[in-house]
Amino acid sequence: MNAPAFPPGFCFGAATSAYQIEGGPAADGKGASIWDRFTHRPGRVHGGHTGDVAAGVYHDFQTDIDILRQLGLNAYRFSVAWARVLPEGRGPVNARGLDYYDRLVDALLAAGVTPFVTLFHWDLPDALQASIGGFAARDCAALFADYAEIVAARLGDRVGHWITLNEPWVFATLGHLRGLHAPGRRNPWAFLRVVHHQLLAHALAAPRLRARAAAAQVGLSLNLSPIYPLTGSDADRAAARLADAGVNRLFLDPLFRGYYPRELWTRLRRFHPPVRPGDLDAIAGSLDFLGVNYYSRAHVRFRRLVPYLQLWPDGLPLIGSAVTLRPTGAPQQSAMGWEVYPAGLFELLFRLKQEYGNPPAFVTENGAAYHDPPPENGRVPDEARRRYLEQHLDMVTAALRAGADVRGYFVWSLIDNFEWTYGYDKRFGLVYVDYTSQQRTIKDSGHWYGAFVRQQTAAAGPRGTSAPRPASIE
Ligand code: FCB
Repeated sequence: MNAPAFPPGFCFGAATSAYQIEGGPAADGKGASIWDRFTHRPGRVHGGHTGDVAAGVYHDFQTDIDILRQLGLNAYRFSVAWARVLPEGRGPVNARGLDYYDRLVDALLAAGVTPFVTLFHWDLPDALQASIGGFAARDCAALFADYAEIVAARLGDRVGHWITLNEPWVFATLGHLRGLHAPGRRNPWAFLRVVHHQLLAHALAAPRLRARAAAAQVGLSLNLSPIYPLTGSDADRAAARLADAGVNRLFLDPLFRGYYPRELWTRLRRFHPPVRPGDLDAIAGSLDFLGVNYYSRAHVRFRRLVPYLQLWPDGLPLIGSAVTLRPTGAPQQSAMGWEVYPAGLFELLFRLKQEYGNPPAFVTENGAAYHDPPPENGRVPDEARRRYLEQHLDMVTAALRAGADVRGYFVWSLIDNFEWTYGYDKRFGLVYVDYTSQQRTIKDSGHWYGAFVRQQTAAAGPRGTSAPRPASIE
């Protein structure tokens, strides 16, 4: 008989982020974030939707914690809204904002659920954008580290897993180069500065978190995607390598090797951020674990471009010579139009083992949007999502068997929520949210995932009866 695929203590969870679920944009003294501002600008979000109400979680987190417990999940990844804790991004602390996350953590632990705290999931305090230009300014990195320490000083006695930043590539690219996300800039000079300053923010925050949270394991979540050439031509292959450098290695190389990918850096000479001596030394080796967010793969074909770096139309860098294609008509696609390609998750996890020293890794996001029907008789049939999750979990077990150090898996998302520029049009949840009543209905995929997790964790004994355990990586 095969050895159990998942090691003891493996985290099976689900993820969310503050702006996408909380609502309460000004509740209890919260300051505005760049997403509060952005969504209120006409024409930015599908249907004019905003996160003002979202899934109402600021006013009631217990309902969702009860669902986590009902499903038997043992971990939950949520994010802290910086502007709830520091309405101006710096300066006076808003005690009521910090209290909210304190209560949330206690409630999770009481339900036997290990909290994974993300400190920055794109909702930068607007005051910092307005006053210093947000992450385009180097000072933002130090301010982030101050904020991280404030949160850790309060929660660090109970929270062991810290994710500093979520998907810095998306924040830099969609927010500062393509203008599709907040803060809505289209500026190639800002782009690489925001990349570097986010990495620096992570590196400055890591020791501050460890100083305040005795058991802190510090990670960062990257959106990683295997990138394939569209054809076997030399030009397409070179283009794919370049795109890989622009998406995956742009973060993996500095974090694990202490340098930016050379071929990319040479081409982007005009746009280099001011990297100071010591920055890359601080960034390299700053992780205790890597968070991997995986949705799909990309194809790239060569295209000669003038000018040298231009704004790219479809999500991955057209740096000099590459363009990505979303494979239209791929046999399986989600409602986002993203190809369902489970093998990509194995490829990424195996690559981390082969090329980056096999770091402890958590799949911190994986999931899919589908056109779910509204609940009928308490049921939401979503077989396509169930299959998506099953196929991707199979790839996690394959990666474990191949020796990759994977320690957890989080479905994106626990509940339907505000999907950025798509508003409420795209549903990623294991749980259906009726946005009029805030009624929750566990979808079939949620019931399936719960049963799967219970089966995997059965050996650990009855749940919910023991005292809160201190969060730790093992
Ligand atoms: C990721 C984001 C997350 C969600 C999923 C679908 O890029 O981190 O907030 O939008 O995509």
